[in-house]
Amino acid sequence: MDDRVLVEHVSKTFTLRRGRAQEEVRALDDVSFAVGDGEIVALTGLSGCGKTTLLRIIMGLETASAGRVAVGGRDVTGCGHDRGLVFQHAELMPWRTALGNVEFGLEVQGVSKQERRRIAMEKLDLVGLAKSADRRPAQLSGGMKQRVGLARALSIDPQVLLMDEPFGALDAHTREALQLEVLRIHQETGKTIIFVTHDLDEAVLLADRVVLMSPHPGRVQQIFDVPLPRPRGDSVELRRRPEFAETRYEIWQALMANSPDKAHSPQKEAA
Ligand SMILES: Nc1ncnc2c1ncn2[C@@H]1O[C@H](COP(=O)(O)OP(=O)(O)OP(=O)(O)O)[C@@H](O)[C@H]1O
Ligand SMILES: [Mg+2]
Repeated sequence: MDDRVLVEHVSKTFTLRRGRAQEEVRALDDVSFAVGDGEIVALTGLSGCGKTTLLRIIMGLETASAGRVAVGGRDVTGCGHDRGLVFQHAELMPWRTALGNVEFGLEVQGVSKQERRRIAMEKLDLVGLAKSADRRPAQLSGGMKQRVGLARALSIDPQVLLMDEPFGALDAHTREALQLEVLRIHQETGKTIIFVTHDLDEAVLLADRVVLMSPHPGRVQQIFDVPLPRPRGDSVELRRRPEFAETRYEIWQALMANSPDKAHSPQKEAA
């Protein structure tokens, strides 16, 4: 498998100014990993370990203090149509319809009206929202808004989808439906996906590999292979597999080894 995304020795330091005083926050320290073409990699770790910062650097919204990121063999120097970002909250434009929101990125690209309508409808159909194309965000549920966000990211046909806790704010049932949707879209389109999540079940269900990060400073702690077959359409069957529980437990144990809250030590849960 070719590397689609390459993260090499990336560090990021933010400088906070408080009056005359300055404080340095080392959000990322020497982070390296590669994501193969068509692979799904989940990024997980405690709050503050730099997941969002790393995703923003890969997207080109933030620059690294050191190191490099390459997508498709080219160094990332800013945003590009080879990458699409899905946020935790879809952040749709309230005055536009679902269709209008999905069309936005195509408009920016200068795609003709007829063509962008066709592509946007196709993407709304892909996420199961063709019938709600003319609704405005206020008339959509949280799950539907996330689907619009996903369709919007897909509209520009990026090679890489970057997703930052896209289902974090959704109820368990909607979340599960959208996880299956991501698996189906991945199966259909073969996109490379980097998926940030706090939810280890979600990470194991979706990913080929899980990158666990540790905080202060943000580093790669360990990378786990997920030994589950594809296609992964049947989440009930997958969750029943011993490999699912074992992988999840291994990641959880490693995560908790770094937790400041030792009340949740692995021994305690195992007991
Ligand atoms: N613009 C910024 N200015 C200063 N510090 C920042 C900035 N963005 C992030 N940080 C700091 O960098 C560190 C990593 O933050 P980041 O948001 O990337 O973590 P995260 O892993 O996404 O956390 P969460 O799981 O809570 O979303 C934190 O200590 C945070 O306070
Ligand atoms: Mg974050």
